Amino acid sequence: MARRELTFVCQNCGAAYGRWQGKCDACGEWNTITEEGAALARPAMPGRAPRKGRKFTLEPLTGATHDAPRLACGVAEFDRVTGGGFVRGSVLLLGGDPGIGKSTLLLEVAAALARAGHRAVYISGEEAVAQVRLRAERLKLQDAPIELAAETSVEDIIATLSDRETPRLLVIDSIQTMWTDAVDSAPGTVTQVRGAAQALIRFAKRSGTAVILVGHVTKDGQIAGPRVVEHMVDAVLSFEGEGSHQFRILRAVKNRFGPTDEIGVFEMTGLGLQEIANPSELFLSERDLGSPGTAVFAGIEGSRPLLVEIQALVAPTSLGTPRRAVVGWDPSRLAMVLAVLEAHCGIRLSGHDVYLNVAGGLRIQEPAADLAAAAALVSSLANAPLPADAVYFGEISLSGAVRPVAQAPARLKEAAKLGFGRAVMPQSAAGEGGGEFGLALLPVPSLSHLAADIAALGKTPAVKTAGGNTRGRADRRASQDD
Ligand code: TYD
Ligand code: MG
Repeated sequence: MARRELTFVCQNCGAAYGRWQGKCDACGEWNTITEEGAALARPAMPGRAPRKGRKFTLEPLTGATHDAPRLACGVAEFDRVTGGGFVRGSVLLLGGDPGIGKSTLLLEVAAALARAGHRAVYISGEEAVAQVRLRAERLKLQDAPIELAAETSVEDIIATLSDRETPRLLVIDSIQTMWTDAVDSAPGTVTQVRGAAQALIRFAKRSGTAVILVGHVTKDGQIAGPRVVEHMVDAVLSFEGEGSHQFRILRAVKNRFGPTDEIGVFEMTGLGLQEIANPSELFLSERDLGSPGTAVFAGIEGSRPLLVEIQALVAPTSLGTPRRAVVGWDPSRLAMVLAVLEAHCGIRLSGHDVYLNVAGGLRIQEPAADLAAAAALVSSLANAPLPADAVYFGEISLSGAVRPVAQAPARLKEAAKLGFGRAVMPQSAAGEGGGEFGLALLPVPSLSHLAADIAALGKTPAVKTAGGNTRGRADRRASQDD
């Protein structure tokens, strides 16, 4: 008897089962398992015996190599993230929330390539040709010689493109709408997405066309469909932004041919996405000077220094368990900074709600932001506005010491360029030279020093310093209570 096919597939993680069940054992999600037709595992030609293996030669590591031939698309912020342009035959997956601007970005990229004389094909599985044309009109790209189609059959697309000169760029918007004959489940299911991606990747490698797949994102921010698609492609880019902000950030999550720490910054305008060559100016453009709870962090994204404002609000809580809400930063990092404030600076925040926000919709991943976050928190608690011309950077260790971070001179240079006058930073960084940028360098050895300095700035003497410890309002209220 033939082996029973596994035909029930979890739409969240792609795990396959022989029968239906309510909960996926692999990822723990409920109600995600649906019946799907299995991939047809028969040989390409029915009736023909399976092919015998062909011998190939094994090669040593040394030998002739070629630089990955790259094609820069001309949208500088996009090229920065891909690592200098499209590599021939590479496949990129671009993920992002609906409406964030994926189709707009890719239309602009395809237009830039087409205008430079390369063949660029844009296949939309979601919109009609007329809709894409309307968008192109809005972006003033009508004259770009992009080849356009609204198609969803992978076989038809590949047959059409193999016909003539192979394109340099193929945009598939989106992979969830594509379907292939090789798999007989409905479009959008995990098996179909995987099958369609496989076919398009094979086409890319064979023809040398660079392929961009647009991927939908699930509500918790993962690219929908099996994670395995992320493993199959050469690069995964994510396009992010806060709905209410105009800034959009392109980030490489994975990149076989380039760095993963570079970001590209765009602004969504009425005329499409504009590149932002100097993001610091933009992120600081709406600063609320003179109010407590904001600190400017001198950060580095990839090779580029970036100044952003970190905002904190510390307010007495009415809840049994105080709220901790973070936008744009790692919540566990916040928990760590709060713990260090409590253990080494005597600042107890267990009676306070804490909100932390990175302005402009940016997401910071660097530990160097610890010091700026701590400064914003203490400033809010002590109701002491920080000096408007100061930037902060430094990693905080669990012992409360301020640890050195990489690329201090680049951070200082950017701060000086934007008119800042002083930098609060780790002690060791002061020796690295940075004074030449005309900044006053204020090294802090530990977080308790910083907390004491900020408390001293306070308009209201809300925080008093005693025996090296800085006590917060919460503490005093708590001790009155008991
Ligand atoms: P779109 O590229 O369709 O997003 P996605 O493909 O990621 O779903 O962009 C849609 C949003 O962008 C839409 O809300 C309108 C906005 N937009 C502008 O603000 N200006 C423009 O010039 C364009 C084309 C879109
Ligand atoms: Mg779209």
